[in-house]
Parts: sequence; C-alpha cells; structure tokens
Amino acid sequence: MPYRYPDEVIEEVRLRNDIVDVISSYVHLKKQGSNYFGLCPFHNEKSPSFSVSPSKQIFYCFGCGAGGNVFKFVQDYENYTFTEALKMLAERANIVLPEVTYSEEAKKKQDLKSEILRVNKEAGKFYYYQLRNESGTAAMQYLKNRGLTDETMQRFGLGFARTGQDLLYRYLKKQGFTDDVLKNCGIFTYDEKRGVTDKFWSRVIFPIMDVNHRIIGFGGRTMGDAKPKYLNSPETPVFDKGRNLYGLNHARTSRKKNIILCEGYMDVIAMHQAGFNQAVASLGTALTSGQANLLKRYTEDVLLCYDSDDAGTKAALRAIPILREAGISAHVISLSPYKDPDEFIKNLGAEEFEKRLEEAENPFYFEVRIAERSFNLNDPQGKTRFAEEIARMILRFEEAIERDNYIEGVAGKYGMNPDSLRKLVAKYAMKGDGIRIREPVKSGIHDRAKEDDGIKIAQRMLLTWFVEQPKIYPLVKPYLHADDFSPGVYRRIAQMLFEQLDAEKTDPAAIIGKFEEDAEIQEAAKVLQTPLPEGEKTADKERMLKELLINVRTGGLQERLQSGDADMDEVGTMILLKQETERLNNLTFHLDQID
Ligand code: GTP
Ligand code: MN
Repeated sequence: MPYRYPDEVIEEVRLRNDIVDVISSYVHLKKQGSNYFGLCPFHNEKSPSFSVSPSKQIFYCFGCGAGGNVFKFVQDYENYTFTEALKMLAERANIVLPEVTYSEEAKKKQDLKSEILRVNKEAGKFYYYQLRNESGTAAMQYLKNRGLTDETMQRFGLGFARTGQDLLYRYLKKQGFTDDVLKNCGIFTYDEKRGVTDKFWSRVIFPIMDVNHRIIGFGGRTMGDAKPKYLNSPETPVFDKGRNLYGLNHARTSRKKNIILCEGYMDVIAMHQAGFNQAVASLGTALTSGQANLLKRYTEDVLLCYDSDDAGTKAALRAIPILREAGISAHVISLSPYKDPDEFIKNLGAEEFEKRLEEAENPFYFEVRIAERSFNLNDPQGKTRFAEEIARMILRFEEAIERDNYIEGVAGKYGMNPDSLRKLVAKYAMKGDGIRIREPVKSGIHDRAKEDDGIKIAQRMLLTWFVEQPKIYPLVKPYLHADDFSPGVYRRIAQMLFEQLDAEKTDPAAIIGKFEEDAEIQEAAKVLQTPLPEGEKTADKERMLKELLINVRTGGLQERLQSGDADMDEVGTMILLKQETERLNNLTFHLDQID
C-alpha cells in the first residue's frame, strides 16, 4: 500500500504511542506475567484471552485471532483506515505530520483501489441526495411504505438512482475522475456505439460496505415488478463478494452474543430497525467459506434466518455444512407462518422474533426434519429408508460422543430404537460410507488444518522465543536459516527478525508493520505472541530448544528437498534428514550461561 507518509514518520508515531497506554483507554487490562490481558473488544467473551505485550508492542487475541501493532488496533477498533489511525496517534503524541506533497498525492492517484473507493463514496453521496430531493419522491415513498424510518435509511446510506442515460457518469467526470478508474468501478457500461451509461436507472440503491464502513459496491432494487428485481455491482478490485457480508460493519460492534445470517438486504435492514443489529446477509450469492470464516472471527454462534420457502430451505441446507466446516454450529430460526424476517417482524413484532431466536433449531435436527419430507413414514419400508438416511448423516460427526448424542436424540424424536439405529450407523461406518475426510478449509483467516501443523507450531515458538530472549539466537544461528521457515508470513518474519537480531535491535511491532493484508497482520501477531511454557527448569528449556530447532530445521529441509528445485527422492531425503537430526541432537546449549 503506498502510504503517503515516509516510513520514518510512521515509525516515529508508533514509537511514541505505547500500545499498552493506547489500548488501556479502550479495554480494561490487567498485568499477568510479562503481558497484559483483557476482554477482547473484537469478539464476545467472558474470560480474557486478549493479550497485549509491552515489550513487543503488539496485541493478539487467543480467542479470535485478532492481532497486530498499535496502528492495527486503532484501525480495527475505530474502523479507521491506516492513514486515519496514523493521524489520530500522531495527534495523541503531539507529532505534527508533514504536509502531503503534490507528487505523493499524484502517486496515490495511481492506486486503483483507493481511487475506486473514492468513486464509490462519491457515487454513494450522489444517490443519497437523489433520494432526498424531488426526483426521489417516489423512491422515498416506496421505502416508507416498506416501513423504513429516516434514521434507518440514513444508517444504511440508502439512495436512489433516477432515470437518465449517464447522470452519475457526467457528475463523476466533472469531479475529475478518469475513465481508467471509472471503467473499473462496475457501475458503468462502456459500449462502443452507445458510449458510457450508468448501470443503475430508476432503482433504490443499497450501498454495500466493508467492515470499515467503506462503500465497496451497490445493490439496486426496482420499485415495481421490473426484472431483475435486484441489480448488483460486479466484483471489482475492492469488491470481493465471497469475503464480505452486508451489514457486518454494524453487526460487528453490536455486542450481541450471536450473529443472525439472512438472505437479503431488506431482511438485514428490517431486523436492524427492530433492534436486531447483529443481522448480516451474504451478497446476492450463496454463502461462501470465505464468509463463514469471516463470521467465525466475530462469533461462534450463528443463527440462520433464511426465507421459509423452498429456495430458502435449500440455501440453509447448503449453508450449514459450510459453517460447520468453519467451526460454527448454526442454529436455524423458524419464521413460519411468514415468508421472511421482514414480514415476520411486521406481523408479530420484535418480541415474538426474540422468542424464535431462543427456539432456533439444532442444525442436524433441521436437516433430518427436511430429509423426512422425502420419505413416507407410514410405510415400514419408507421408515427403514429414513432410518438409513439418518444413520448416514450421523457419520459426519467425528466424535463418538457426538454421534451417540445424536443417535439418542433422533431416535427419541422419531420413535426409533436407539440400539437399532446405532447398529445401522456402525454398519455404514464399516462400509466406509459417508465418512468424512477432513478437507482443509480452502481460504480465509482461520486456516485451521495448516495452522495446527506441528512444524508451524515449532516455528512460531522458536520465533517468539527469539523475540522474548534474544540471547538464545546466537546459540542457534549457526544451525538455522530463514529459509527453513514456511514460505509466506513465517519466512518473511524470520528474515526480518534475523536481520534485527543481527543488529541487536528487535522490534516485533515494526515487523508487523511491514505486512499489509489483514490476514497477514493477524497471522504475524500470532506468530510473535505464541505462548511459551513458563518457569521450566533450565535442562527442560535446553531440551525444548533443541527439539524446536530439529523440527524447524528438518521440516524446512524436507520441504526444500522435495520441492521442484532440489527434487530429491524419498530415500535420499530420509537419509539427509536423519543425518541432520543426529547432528543437531549432539549439540548442547548452555542456557544457564546467558541469563
Ligand atoms: P425484498 O424482496 O425487497 O424484500 O428484498 P430482499 O432483500 O428480501 O430480497 P430477496 O429475499 O428476494 O433476495 C435475497 C437477496 O438475493 C437480495 O438481497 C439480493 O442480494 C439477491 N437477489 C434477489 N433478487 C435478485 C435478482 O433478481 N438478481 C440478483 N443479482 N440478485 C438478486
Ligand atoms: Mn425478502
């Protein structure tokens, strides 16, 4: 990201804002060992897993994985951009930031993403005012008829695009935006014959925002029966539909214990207006694993609130396994006899809806109940088929105790003999039917399968240890190389940290400052804030150091030997690894001499 300010200025601001001081003004922190702990402001929790390290100047939450340096904290907490966080912290430390010069401003212009965000913001304002002047009377009436208050419309930034060939286009051109940028925003059609036209005509506009309240795209709804009902922005460099959720910018600070996942923009808005400000929706597509992982950052408890029609039920059935894969057990809200939450709340009110939240159905029972519809339970054969189907479904639970609980539960519900059902489950398990092979989660922040890989744990512990006790680094240095660490965040940290250690200036928060993507920043904080066993005897520590070294070293070697460039066969690799392990095993580290 081309920051507008020189690196030295950024570092100066960071060094003059102690992370413990800054975070203390938001979160109540208590000292515990060398760290401070408090209740995490980024997810709901009862016991503190949010840690702040004064020596490393970083924070990391062991519960939800949020982490970074002081800039990242302010960005996340205040929903600020980096520059906004920098300005706030500079002011706090009485540092006067240098004037932004023209050439830097010009450089920034080339940054397509930030330009698109600027266009979106301007377009959002344009639509916002159209809704609120004469040309928007009908649209305003439409929204009022649907029960929305002015306050709600404002909160969601609702707008209106009136009919016109290129009203918005001309407006933005006048503001100085270039076609290079406008072409990439997804809200104009470029056509050789017809020229440029606005995408949205005569539609109510729903700006779609990311968690930092920045407009990343738009949805536009007709006010009548025109097809399609909704037009949505396509994906652009700033709009990744699979990694954003409508309403999450508000829901994430709702401090409710769950998040309600619904289908549409209007559902979210109606629910927020009724006080359920923890409602979000996917963006006109089926739920993705990226969205499930995003949800997992904020809650473990998702309530599915999909339309009660066939399409909604199908969508819920598809969403449940995706959420389960992300570690979320999503309960299902029943809206019957109404079609969607909007209608439900209009008819029965918020209190009744609250009851439905409490009564939300276990996802497995929901799936079984839907499956039941395709069997005739009055026919003994149908009943058997149904039992077989249930047995297969139960196999997806990995824990025996979980399977048992569901066997008992379902048997009770449907008047089956639990032992017979148990036998059926065992029979299918033997045949290998339906056994789930754990697939690694494809994308997202919580890449659990990889995260918990033993070698990575060893890498994290070693790196954290170097930071906390830099004197052990020279002992290990001759046997270790930054390339031994996994490619990506881990290796980059190792490279930067080793440079700092060689110069005897460790500064973990500066390392974190070199990462730009949110997911990378969090991972870096996690790597540098790995819990190490405390208070062990020196001999134990020496043994642990050696084990970590062997793990990291042989893990890295193996990866390199088997990668394309070295291309060594398996036997050759094993021999080399064995030799290296023996060599390292013969080392003795004298940790008692360094303290
Ligand atoms: P209302 O029907 O006005 O209550 O809006 P809704 O948000 O409840 O819409 P609905 O439940 O019909 O659809 C859920 C979501 O699917 C919408 O919010 C849109 O994101 C998307 N969607 C609905 N209809 C269309 C369509 O015709 N085209 C596209 N691309 N997306 C649609
Ligand atoms: Mn709807």
